[in-house]
Amino acid sequence: MPHFDDQALTSEVIESFANTPNTRLKFVIQETVKALHDLVRRTELTFEEWKQAIEFLTRTGQTCTPLRQEFILLSDVLGVSMLVDAVNHREREGATETTVLGPFYVGEHKPMPHGADITKGIAGEPMFVQSRVTDLAGKPLVGAEIDVWHADDDGFYDSQKADYAQLGPSLRARFITDAEGRFSFRTILPCSYPIPADGPVGDLITATNRHPMRPAHVHFLVKAEGYEPLITHVFLDGDEYLRSDVVFGVKDELIAKVQPRTEPTLPNGDAVTGPWHLMTYDFQMKPGAGMVPQPMMSAAE
Ligand code: BEZ
Ligand code: FE
Repeated sequence: MPHFDDQALTSEVIESFANTPNTRLKFVIQETVKALHDLVRRTELTFEEWKQAIEFLTRTGQTCTPLRQEFILLSDVLGVSMLVDAVNHREREGATETTVLGPFYVGEHKPMPHGADITKGIAGEPMFVQSRVTDLAGKPLVGAEIDVWHADDDGFYDSQKADYAQLGPSLRARFITDAEGRFSFRTILPCSYPIPADGPVGDLITATNRHPMRPAHVHFLVKAEGYEPLITHVFLDGDEYLRSDVVFGVKDELIAKVQPRTEPTLPNGDAVTGPWHLMTYDFQMKPGAGMVPQPMMSAAE
């Protein structure tokens, strides 16, 4: 009988994958075994803890539906989503910084005219967003496609609401840049909001005394022929959760100063009573190609 030795076990398991024909798969699976075995050794994991971990992952899988991806949420709150983003975007060369896609991207919509009101009547303080898409040298990119989406005043996305299929998109739209690379729209001021916290990931956040909040932001997905797709958010300066985003998605370069304004007319000509806000943020695109993300669910018509 060979003498059992846990380091020899690790080597034996790694060696069991030696004939994997796909060299990248072989590398990643062998590194995963190494990291997992090290974790068990370093923590002296008990049977009870391993059982709890398996039950937690089982519940995470069981919470997934066509509209909800609890594993992505887990990856987000563990900072893995941001780390994968970081290792894939090491050299920005002056291009706009990237951040997580999040679970509320639902794909394409018909392009809307510049200056369009995307609120569909949802109440909130008016905000006008004006932006320009350029290359790294500042040359405007004509015909770039921009998908935008954000939460309402109560922190909910349209796709989280029961009547989404009937009502269609709100606080969500697509724009195409003009000859100067510009696009603009009218919306409401977004607020900070909690990630979905009624599942196992929420239980983890509670058990570890973390809060579930994301700072107020607007999501942007910018696509232009010959450039890497840009997945990012623009955050609102002054939000109390900017330094403790539950998914670690904030980068200083993505924080916009949103100006308080009082003029009675928005830049699109809409009359307003009371204060409104102006968000100005430009995007610089990096040359290259890249994968356009697949939405979790498809756009309502
Ligand atoms: C979001 O910003 O929409 C989001 C990102 C990660 C997890 C949950 C929500
Ligand atoms: Fe969001």
